[in-house]
Amino acid sequence: MHIAMVSSEAAPFIKTGGMGEVVFGLAKELAKTNEVSILLPLYKGLSFMSEDEIMKKKPFRTNIRVHIAWREEICDVYKVKVEGINYYFLRCDRYFLRDNGIYSYYDDIERFAFFTHAALDFLITLRYPPKIVHLHDWHAGLLPFLVKEQEYYARRLDKTKFVLTIHNPAYQGLLDVSGLENIYEISPAWHNRGCLDFNGMVSTLKGAILYSDLVTTVSKTYRDELLTSEHGMGFEQLLKDKKDKFIGIVNGIDDNYYNPEKDIYTSHFGIDSYTKGKLNNKRRVLEELHLTGEDIPLISFVSRFTWQKGLGLIFSSIPHAVELGANIVIMGSGEKELELVAKSYEAMYPSKVRVIIGYDERLAHLIYAGSDFTLVPSLFEPCGTSQLIAMRYGSIPIVRATGGLVDTVIPYDGLNYEKATGFSFVNFDSVSLSDTISRAIDIYFNNKWLLKRIIRNDLKTNNSWKKYAKLYLRAYNKAVGK
Ligand code: GLC
Repeated sequence: MHIAMVSSEAAPFIKTGGMGEVVFGLAKELAKTNEVSILLPLYKGLSFMSEDEIMKKKPFRTNIRVHIAWREEICDVYKVKVEGINYYFLRCDRYFLRDNGIYSYYDDIERFAFFTHAALDFLITLRYPPKIVHLHDWHAGLLPFLVKEQEYYARRLDKTKFVLTIHNPAYQGLLDVSGLENIYEISPAWHNRGCLDFNGMVSTLKGAILYSDLVTTVSKTYRDELLTSEHGMGFEQLLKDKKDKFIGIVNGIDDNYYNPEKDIYTSHFGIDSYTKGKLNNKRRVLEELHLTGEDIPLISFVSRFTWQKGLGLIFSSIPHAVELGANIVIMGSGEKELELVAKSYEAMYPSKVRVIIGYDERLAHLIYAGSDFTLVPSLFEPCGTSQLIAMRYGSIPIVRATGGLVDTVIPYDGLNYEKATGFSFVNFDSVSLSDTISRAIDIYFNNKWLLKRIIRNDLKTNNSWKKYAKLYLRAYNKAVGK
């Protein structure tokens, strides 16, 4: 089957969060038995292979004429093959060769409207168009609408089915009704008919939900949460109407890349040698970050800094955790205010708390491999990646029981030492997080046997993509009617 992913990010070229990694991990596994393409904008600042190197190649397609905002933009497409996946980079310098990252420009809606149209105009040039076009979040959300409501595209893609994965519905692709006409060149009548209307605006995510043949999200629990008015972010009724065409499939991780036995950034360890191996990594982290105390718990947090991730709870829990003896390492970047507050805690506890603003892949691996606990106290979490990586490296996750964190971490309940892989709490407040950290620290100091047992359970957990890619294939087959 030919599957084409249309995504605003995908590793190894560009990722700002979990989605970019998920698109790559899933595609790589699928590519073992299918033809898989990933369509990406040709951004500035690509890793793995730079945009300059890519642009030196002979284009795979040239001069695709893309209609956008009543203009015509020319798009060249470059192809790069990695891990069996065909990456197609859609080039439009005015939109994507920019200096300050890939998102948060005043004209994001227009940039991704271009991407949507360009992806579509490229797909119809393929001799064998994909059977499945798999969209991720809002960015190319109106693509299935453009196909299904326009004869020209519908005829050319008549065997193609559309799958949408919702990674984060807090990003809804909102635009003014006027933008529908002025940017997408879609008649405002579509808004008046109500189908693209989202509280008086247009939401490309809503369009994607309505017009996709199958909608997925990244865990079963989050699927159920999205059907409630409390968590549905306004999409609950639409999703309820999809019935069995809305499913949850939990994310995997690339367990070859995240592999404590051969990680290029860390001291190696397997399940039977982890005590020594983890200690080596812990020493390296402490030394590099100018902290001391290899016998005291090292608690880490590696994530984007957004309100969703529960940083507020972490900040309020720091004094208590420090008092109980823990060292705390926080790495990530995002909202400036959160970065400043995090830094102020480091200033308050200079010998116990270390805050690294930014993201350093090497150090992230080392922190997972060297820390004893990893915090994931999210307000909501469709799946979450941090806890999956943490478990792989035997850093026990301390999570809030929400979304994918429920599906991927088995909390210790006082009895289930045979299965438990972490700790969890329910209420989104700092007292609950503090209490849970206290329980974890208590076990660290006073019940080494249990601590080791939980670490072993973590190291044995299998969250490989092999397991979950099969579920996507089954879903694709269902969408194409097999
Ligand atoms: C988003 C979600 C996160 C999920 C990731 C990949 O970042 O917030 O929970 O793990 O997408 O699907």
